[in-house]
Amino acid sequence: MTNAAPSSPLQALARIRPDVRAMHSYVVQPSAGMLKMDAMENPFRLPAHLQAALGQRLGALALNRYPGDRVADLKAALAQYAGMPEGYGIVLGNGSDELITLLALACAQPVDKDGRGQRATMLSPMPGFVMYPLSAQLQGLDFVGVPLTPDFELDEPAMLAAIAQYRPAITYIAYPNNPTATLWDECAVQRVIDAAGAQGGIVVMDEAYQPFASRTWIDRMRAEPARNAHVLLMRTLSKFGLAGVRLGYLIGPTAFTAELDKVRPPYNVSVLNCEAALFALEHSDVFAAQAAELRTARADLIAALRRMPGIEKCWDSEANMVLVRVADPARAYEGMKNRKVLVKNVSTMHPLLANCLRLTVGSADDNAQMLAALEASL
Ligand SMILES: Cc1ncc(COP(=O)(O)O)c(C=O)c1O
Repeated sequence: MTNAAPSSPLQALARIRPDVRAMHSYVVQPSAGMLKMDAMENPFRLPAHLQAALGQRLGALALNRYPGDRVADLKAALAQYAGMPEGYGIVLGNGSDELITLLALACAQPVDKDGRGQRATMLSPMPGFVMYPLSAQLQGLDFVGVPLTPDFELDEPAMLAAIAQYRPAITYIAYPNNPTATLWDECAVQRVIDAAGAQGGIVVMDEAYQPFASRTWIDRMRAEPARNAHVLLMRTLSKFGLAGVRLGYLIGPTAFTAELDKVRPPYNVSVLNCEAALFALEHSDVFAAQAAELRTARADLIAALRRMPGIEKCWDSEANMVLVRVADPARAYEGMKNRKVLVKNVSTMHPLLANCLRLTVGSADDNAQMLAALEASL
């Protein structure tokens, strides 16, 4: 055997893209012993009898096999649950995070080493969901963030101007938006969709928070299918109550879903995810009741926040989160953390979010504990 040259981990590490090396990983805040109000999770566990029934079902699965026909059953159940229109298809993702990655992957255009070719653009109102710009960066799309108005409404003239200027391949509209919890005006959103379509772009309506919102775009898709023929509807079971299961789905005209399916890893939804999601849909009344309870708790939470001295502003919410403005968000965040309540300090995420904290809507008890910690920390 000849002597190989010594390996050079530093040289090998340099093969990883410089922009990736310069990034930070997504931080999930440590939460042991804390009340978790930072990630819009549903506070409710499955009732005991459903836990036992689910355990039996999961235990009996053929874990030695790759996911198979059950995935088709799950697609059919989700299509029925969402009221998928005729002529539409559905793509499943390991959370909608994966679908966001797949959409960027499918739309990224190659540029050769001499810079020939035209990079695709992704556009979204900002502040918005962090995964949109991240997916654009990682898959090589340009990202254009269009600022919302100071009250987090859609800036329609700015959106229309940006669409005309940048001709985005993908426009993301989170409906409702994260972290502002706003559900934008339906007519303004439709005009943005029209403009994106007129220049040949795709629009993704991201309805992660649909269980807590008063409207869904699927009604518009059904009412005016031709006008919304370039619109894809993205949903997730995370906020519904299954964040731990990781199941996102995207509904769109089959011509689009067929293309997306080509970039999807073949077994991206595990047999466990699939069966747990099917089980949850069979018991969707339980989750619907939880969502209704959270919507009531949200109204009480907002009313209490608006009465609290030191809360400069508390915005309306169509999601299971509430955005508040305080004088010193870092102090409030740390004070709450010391009192074992974890929220999200979004104050440095975007200039429009200056001094803002994002609070998850929990059960009445969770919200009372969060309010007490906040009041003591202001
Ligand atoms: C607007 C929006 N879209 C998508 C997601 C991703 O959801 P998941 O990957 O859990 O399905 C989130 C998560 O917080 C979100 O806020």
